Amino acid sequence: MTDAFSFHLLARDGEARRGEISTPRGTIRTPAFMPVGTGGTVKAMYLDQVRALGSDIILGNTYHLMLRPGAERVARLGGLHEFARWPYPILTDSGGFQVMSLSALRKITEKGVTFRSHVDGQVFDMSPERSIEIQGLLDSDIQMQLDECVALPADEKEIARAMELSLRWAERCKTAFGDQPGKAMFGIVQGGDDLKLRESSASALAAMDLKGYAVGGLAVGEPQEVMLEVLAATCPALPSDKPRYLMGVGTPDDILRSVERGVDMFDCVMPTRAGRHGLAFTRRGKINLKNARHAEDPRPLDEESDCPATRDYSRAYLHHLVKSGEALGGMLLTWNNLAYYQGLMADIRTAIEAGRFAERAGEIREEWVRGDM
Ligand code: GUN
Repeated sequence: MTDAFSFHLLARDGEARRGEISTPRGTIRTPAFMPVGTGGTVKAMYLDQVRALGSDIILGNTYHLMLRPGAERVARLGGLHEFARWPYPILTDSGGFQVMSLSALRKITEKGVTFRSHVDGQVFDMSPERSIEIQGLLDSDIQMQLDECVALPADEKEIARAMELSLRWAERCKTAFGDQPGKAMFGIVQGGDDLKLRESSASALAAMDLKGYAVGGLAVGEPQEVMLEVLAATCPALPSDKPRYLMGVGTPDDILRSVERGVDMFDCVMPTRAGRHGLAFTRRGKINLKNARHAEDPRPLDEESDCPATRDYSRAYLHHLVKSGEALGGMLLTWNNLAYYQGLMADIRTAIEAGRFAERAGEIREEWVRGDM
């Protein structure tokens, strides 16, 4: 029987891949960037705008949504797509990573993770099975296994322990997920900066025959070089006919260099969070709108863009909004930043199709480094 969830490669250029993930809720063009919609909202954006920028999928977080408004409540209200008015694919992270970064009193055992909510102090237990149950209640299209990510640097024993625990949790999540045509559960490669552990994590997950694979535990404090070495060791150990998702990454340069090593999907808070903090991404690099040098600059962020936030508003006005703490400042800069990121992904996809990815990546980097004149 054919699955309504499938992945096809359309073109390859070196290790870079141009593909398509088909789901009943729509097609995801890869390499893809998934805007982060943690609590059922991509902060400071209407989801219509997010869609119009070329986003095929957004990300939601098990951790945030289980605490507020609660997974059972979202289910009663028709699921996350209906609740947030986003009828297209949604990927949900499993919660383990957010527990480690956001909650107090967290404890990891073989059974799962126990933590105290950062919202109201209530104590929760989350097992791999409960994480999958919650992601099902949210009606997520791509669900992630519960995993444990260690912060780097860490010693090898600790990295190995978390990686092996994550493999056992992957098996339990696979069983809990069962057979759901049209949806997917992805495994997550762990193993820190240890290439041998990364390879064995990837091979063990590959043997589970999952519908997709993520690389976790990166962009957690290590230099970019280390991340790229880990990707170069991990991607070849993953099945080439399944999508590969690099979690929580990254800068435009991280994305270019990861695509070059065979990554198909990305998510990162960078464009949205930076936008709310007064930082604009443009093809000529980052612009900090808080800086007084923009106070009387009548130029837009980029006169050649077709995003209104980028093309139609002066830097002087954006500076004024940011300095005054106006909500519109964060809204316009987030809009600009997501337009930049989705434009970058479209550019990457076109270049791979044309067999000129390396050349185009060089041009993009050069323009970025040359800066804003
Ligand atoms: N987001 C960024 N990194 C990770 C990771 O290692 N695991 C999970 N579950 N989410 C992440």
